Amino acid sequence: MIGRIRNLEDYTVAYRTSVNEPEAFWAQQAESFYWRKKWDKVLDWDFEDYNVNWFKGGKLNITENCLDRHLLERGDKTAIIWEPNDPKEPNRTFTYKELHSEVCKFANVLQNNGVVKGDRVCIYMPMVPELTIAVLACARIGAIHSVIFAGFSASSLSSRVQDAEAKIVLTSDGAYRGAKTLDLKPIVDEALEFSDSVEKVLVLQRTQAEINMQEGRDLWWHEELAKADDQNAAVETDSEDPLFILYTSGSTGKPKGVVHTTGGYMVYTWYSFLNVFQYEENDVYWCTADIGWITGHSYIVYGPLLAGATSLMFEGVPTYPDAGRFWRICDKYQVNIFYTAPTAIRALMAYGLEHVELYDLKSLRVLGTVGEPINSEAWHWYHDHIGKNKCPIVDTWWQTETGGIMISPMAGITPTKPTYATLPLPGIQPVLLDSEGKEIEGKGVEGNLCIKFPWPSMIRTTYGDHERCKQTYFSTYKGYYFTGDGCKRDEDGYYRILGRVDDVINVSGHRLGTAEIENAINLHSAVVESAVVGYPHEIKGQGIYAYVICDGDMVEASDLEDIKKEVIATVNKAIGPIAKPDKVQIVRGLPKTRSGKIMRRILRKIAEGDTNNLGDTSTLLDPSIVESIKEGAQ
Ligand code: WT7
Repeated sequence: MIGRIRNLEDYTVAYRTSVNEPEAFWAQQAESFYWRKKWDKVLDWDFEDYNVNWFKGGKLNITENCLDRHLLERGDKTAIIWEPNDPKEPNRTFTYKELHSEVCKFANVLQNNGVVKGDRVCIYMPMVPELTIAVLACARIGAIHSVIFAGFSASSLSSRVQDAEAKIVLTSDGAYRGAKTLDLKPIVDEALEFSDSVEKVLVLQRTQAEINMQEGRDLWWHEELAKADDQNAAVETDSEDPLFILYTSGSTGKPKGVVHTTGGYMVYTWYSFLNVFQYEENDVYWCTADIGWITGHSYIVYGPLLAGATSLMFEGVPTYPDAGRFWRICDKYQVNIFYTAPTAIRALMAYGLEHVELYDLKSLRVLGTVGEPINSEAWHWYHDHIGKNKCPIVDTWWQTETGGIMISPMAGITPTKPTYATLPLPGIQPVLLDSEGKEIEGKGVEGNLCIKFPWPSMIRTTYGDHERCKQTYFSTYKGYYFTGDGCKRDEDGYYRILGRVDDVINVSGHRLGTAEIENAINLHSAVVESAVVGYPHEIKGQGIYAYVICDGDMVEASDLEDIKKEVIATVNKAIGPIAKPDKVQIVRGLPKTRSGKIMRRILRKIAEGDTNNLGDTSTLLDPSIVESIKEGAQ
């Protein structure tokens, strides 16, 4: 089969071809798909004044490739297995035929409600099959989906809805998450108070919670569905038409709407899915991510469906009803390929092996991780106890902006090495740059990870603000895409990701900007200023440490414990539970230079508990501040 890497030699040849003849290489991969019209040009690009086009002029609909194309050969094959939060609730499965019909029906619902090509549709939903159906239905009619993780607060949702000027919001009454039932619709109601673009809200019944339906705006999903038939002619899109927006945090306060387009994203998510996981036709594949993140977009929905795979979707959490849930599901569906986050592995590790030993796990063949560096201990536990020493682990490095996996072993082909993402995929040209922007050649070196040549699924723009996209990714190093990660290339030429070099922290595989959290903390009326840093956290990878200065006139010393709690609650409300600080320290000042810049390096050291080694503090305006912070450190 075109594109298929079966051994190291295939990889070497594919890699070499992808570098020497990128256009021919990717054109060949793109031949696997159904195009209504072939592209005019495979690639044109400019990293200085950023602009990239892949397969421009090509006409297609990505859902014809995810669904229609499979109907003849795989119509009765299971496309989606859905496992509910509560193991006692019946599961649901959809064959390719059934999924096709559901997507067509919901595409008609959207069209009946006035949604047309190019409109933005915000989706704020739990992990239920209707979420996947909604995403694909948007793609079917050429509307741009913007999925917002259902753990975000009303104010986060609101700013995303407004930034995208969404026409319609899709949501549910509520969501189940472990033992908790969450109300989603009231959050949507609050979020929409200040939005003028949203005309309609479609509400799925999930928890049967009593909710408010706003006359003239809110509609029940099931009622709309009852009016729709299951034939829908897919809308033709250009290869470079936007497929979706996905918001992600950066070093500045405001999340960015990362825009991905259609043709290149399709080719790359398919290609990377097949090869990294070494997917076989009858495999059951399970990625535990939420569709609210890029991992879910690329490797629950698009990549697997493009490959005609059976993709499992799980509504719940790893620890409900107990810490054996993941493994029980693996046995139940005989999962062959399992893809999760290091934070989940570390959390389950802490519950002990008794939750693993109850299960057989014999069906597993390939294991994957994503989202953050995996520590050696977690890697070995995963390898020994889940993979029973026989499953290769693919440590996949990539980003929301890259659309697909960039550096990773090919399962069972690339010799793995714990904590290493190993080698770039075909088409990916990583380089390490020094602080002057010079490429660091050779082996056994470290630098800032950049990519020097375009790949098909790369970010095209940040929604509504192309300048910001250029500024963020293409200005630090002229002519390169800058990832924000530090990286090592070892003696074998293997890459190991060292973590972010900017003011971004990675908490349980979720990316958060420190500025964003500081802005949230500063909303508290008694807070004068704050500084947030990450520190090593055993389960989450990084924890959030907040240094906060309070207004002395407003706060009594006896109130400090309450203030800390309120600060945490303020962040919860402004962003969501994922951004809640783990530690809050009230301080009388922050270590600032004479020019007013906060020396975060010092704050990071104190948060890590490494206070003997703070380096040069002589440029500080008031070095005594450091002593007082050290004394109060947690
Ligand atoms: C950042 C991107 C795309 C997957 C979900 C996260 C970190 C991602 C790895 C890995 C070490 C990793 C990087 C990256 N990261 N995968 N295998 N090893 N670090 O997507 O929210 O866009 O975050 O996650 O720091 O820049 P994201």
